[in-house]
Amino acid sequence: MDLGIKGCTALVLGGTRGLGWSCAQALSDAGVKVIINGRNAEHGANAAALLRDGVFIAGDVGDEDSRNALIDRLHKLDLPSIIVTNAGGPPAAAFEETNAKLWRDSYETNVLGPLEIVRAMLPHMRAQQFGRIINITSFVVKELYPNMALSNSLRIGLTGAMGALAREVAADGITINGLLPGLMDTGALQRVIADRSRRLQMSEASVREQMAATIPMQRLGTANDFGAMCAFLASRHAAYITGQNICIDGGLTKSVT
Ligand SMILES: NC(=O)c1ccc[n+]([C@@H]2O[C@H](COP(=O)([O-])OP(=O)(O)OC[C@H]3O[C@@H](n4cnc5c(N)ncnc54)[C@H](OP(=O)(O)O)[C@@H]3O)[C@@H](O)[C@H]2O)c1
Repeated sequence: MDLGIKGCTALVLGGTRGLGWSCAQALSDAGVKVIINGRNAEHGANAAALLRDGVFIAGDVGDEDSRNALIDRLHKLDLPSIIVTNAGGPPAAAFEETNAKLWRDSYETNVLGPLEIVRAMLPHMRAQQFGRIINITSFVVKELYPNMALSNSLRIGLTGAMGALAREVAADGITINGLLPGLMDTGALQRVIADRSRRLQMSEASVREQMAATIPMQRLGTANDFGAMCAFLASRHAAYITGQNICIDGGLTKSVT
């Protein structure tokens, strides 16, 4: 299917590995020029070289100076009409294991960072009367998960802010939607599995098996399960879908909305 976005430019924050990388690949396959971002410069440059027309910009979404440098580079290079917001999620932790620094750092990376970068790109999208913003959050937006105090709170904060913004920019041809991964076998879950294995004194393989058994499809998701939906939400065909939060989770989340 022609997604109608050939020749557009996309920015995929946290786009060098895992779910962000899957989105970058799917957008590239749709003929989009993709700018990927991440902190590890060597890995990012290698990943960008695998994309047709791929560009890498190093930077930490959770650091204000780094965000401003990224925004300056975009102004010089090319302004995106498609933005995928993403980064490594907050660490797994029960509430009493968290502290103020962890809350501030996680807020910068997972709430303020995406909002500030989107804010800087909105004038370009409004001028073009076309924009697509896709936020990679988490299924915890719909159903809380144990030992994830930071994610359980901050994902909902970003979802609220983006949901409000979606209604403010809808008449300008800009859509904003959330993509909510379930239990996907990529970096963030691999860190949760290691944490749970330590807490429960179980092997990582047993934790994986237990997790898979909680999913109606009886398997963890993969990066390949993810990117196509991102490309669809970025497409011209998804012009009338905005302010939605879509789980990609093999049926894990039991919420009806
Ligand atoms: N996997 C799951 O099951 C699952 C479930 C629910 C929610 N999520 C959320 O989905 C998102 C992606 O997960 P994933 O499993 O794909 O993670 P991942 O494999 O660890 O990939 C994270 C990507 O973001 C980049 N990144 C990390 N921190 C960054 C920062 N501060 N600034 C810029 N780039 C940054 C990483 O590159 P560098 O390391 O080079 O910076 C990498 O490209 C995370 O927020 C995660 O919490 C995942």
